[in-house]
Amino acid sequence: MNMSFDVSPIGATFGAIITGLDARSLDDRGESDLKAAFAEHRVLVLRDQNLSADEQVAFSRRLGPLYRMPYVKPLDDHPDVIAVLKEADEINVSTFGSWWHADFSYLEEPPVFSILQALELPPKGGDTLFADMCAAWDALSDGMKRLLAPLKVMHSGHIYGTRLASDGSKGRMRGVQVSTGHAEADVERAHPLVRLHRPSGRKALFCSPTYTTRLEGMTAEESQPILSMLYDHFARPEFTIRQRWQDGDLLMWDNRAVVHLAVNDYDGYRRLLHRTTVGSERPVAA
Ligand SMILES: [Fe+2]
Repeated sequence: MNMSFDVSPIGATFGAIITGLDARSLDDRGESDLKAAFAEHRVLVLRDQNLSADEQVAFSRRLGPLYRMPYVKPLDDHPDVIAVLKEADEINVSTFGSWWHADFSYLEEPPVFSILQALELPPKGGDTLFADMCAAWDALSDGMKRLLAPLKVMHSGHIYGTRLASDGSKGRMRGVQVSTGHAEADVERAHPLVRLHRPSGRKALFCSPTYTTRLEGMTAEESQPILSMLYDHFARPEFTIRQRWQDGDLLMWDNRAVVHLAVNDYDGYRRLLHRTTVGSERPVAA
């Protein structure tokens, strides 16, 4: 496809780096090319952006209606922006999103796009990993696909609930103010295990060790062998890419088709990103 900017694939199956595009001055052609590239690659890294919070909000709005996440405190002066921050003196703390997940997948209509802009980066570490849930689905055997296709999987936001599942050996991070103790977050909600990625028409696995509790109609113990197999399967190296952040990077991903995690390996350094979230959609069975 002839694009109005340069697209360099990252992984064998997904992810791309975009250069030659200014997110501040996107024209109609640029916007439609960007949406096409996003539908195909599902994770995009836009280099050399350095957007202000206002500019990030304006750019995000081009992709759809802004979404305000529950339980996470936004910036005081920008209610649509969250600071993802870890201070240099926050040592041995649990961080935000440090194991595989799709953002807020336990909600009835989980958010669709997540957008992160790098503001301050550690000199090493602090990478973000992604797994391609479309490629992971495609690679399963026909027999396993037949077994999984009709299933629903239960998601819970228990980490925000009254049964807080935090690592007791570690402190809680200060930089992202996540509130807990919400009884409604403990509720389990069933979503299709195989989800439609609308922009491409592809099928994607939709489960994660952060929010998925069990398969619908089964106990956690009964579900565990299948879910553990899927978690190991989608995290195989051939389905993953790793974002080594550079100053000015604006990263965007589609929660319908990928899962991600933030590596917490940069104790002693400050790391600050601004996050916006766009759209929400009830997961549709593929
Ligand atoms: Fe996340």
